[in-house]
Amino acid sequence: MGVLTSTAALFNAIASRLGRPPARRDAIADDPPDAVPAEADPPIPRITGSGHGTAGIARYDQWTEAVFGQKIPIPGVLFAASFAGDSVWGQKTHEALLNVELAYVEHLCRQLKNNDVPGALVEFGVFEGWWINHFYEVCEKLGLDRPVIGYDSFQGLSSPHPVHDDAFWQAGQYAASLDAVSRNVKLAERRRIKLIPGFFSDSLRTPDAVAVGEIAYARIDCDIYEPALDCLRYLGPRLADGAVLVLDDWPHRLEVGEARAFHDWASTVPHLRFEFLFFGTWGHFYTRVWHHDPASPGGTLTP
Ligand SMILES: C[S@@+](CC[C@H](N)C(=O)[O-])C[C@H]1O[C@@H](n2cnc3c(N)ncnc32)[C@H](O)[C@@H]1O
Repeated sequence: MGVLTSTAALFNAIASRLGRPPARRDAIADDPPDAVPAEADPPIPRITGSGHGTAGIARYDQWTEAVFGQKIPIPGVLFAASFAGDSVWGQKTHEALLNVELAYVEHLCRQLKNNDVPGALVEFGVFEGWWINHFYEVCEKLGLDRPVIGYDSFQGLSSPHPVHDDAFWQAGQYAASLDAVSRNVKLAERRRIKLIPGFFSDSLRTPDAVAVGEIAYARIDCDIYEPALDCLRYLGPRLADGAVLVLDDWPHRLEVGEARAFHDWASTVPHLRFEFLFFGTWGHFYTRVWHHDPASPGGTLTP
């Protein structure tokens, strides 16, 4: 089988199979001369007729499942694929989507700055400090002079809930010591960063945590239901109007984990409204938080 060396080669091979003329060379700038000839690939089976067991199927997702063997998402989904997440193309996709997400995070932080949305950038569940470091670097780059605060047990996950968490999660998972994380985030030399240690059920009541004022950007990455709910309750009175709230492990099921916590909490904060922003790879769920003002149906931020 031939190796497809570029998007253009891939496109031309498919076009040739379908009996269409190949793409014009000037339309795809990176097309190498003499791309692998399409004839090297085996023919693909031709689909004929209107069969495929679709008779009587009214719903689009059922129809795509019958014809393509999988439910293909609704229009508006930006990317859908047949390849597995751990395949070469899956990994390329993850990498590309992560780059999009990081650029979007920078855009969100720039919006916070340009619109004077007040408050700190915080993360609940820092593990080895990857996101804390990233927030620090974005703040430095943008001249966004805000505290960057990480809250963590530094002993890994607390015990998952027997019903409201998936069995995958285990107490003690993702443990990284306070010493190790302090070194990773260069705590001693970065005045902007602060770490608040302890299990959230205790640490969010300590004077250090209580003293944190408004919050402009909150990232919940503690994976499981009860701690996520503790964090959300702590955030309720602190999230600024226009703040960003990210849940890192959104399971797309309301019964478990961070989605259940958000569901349970949302009905207790009628002063807040939520705008969906973005769902990224690895379950990252981005929302904007608005202070509910009956006189003004929607907030806006300039870029
Ligand atoms: C998946 S890791 C976080 C990954 C991290 N955000 C990163 O950038 O790599 C989950 C973190 O949540 C913390 N955690 C889980 N349950 C907690 C709890 N009840 N109280 C405090 N920290 C908790 C764990 O210690 C762990 O560091």
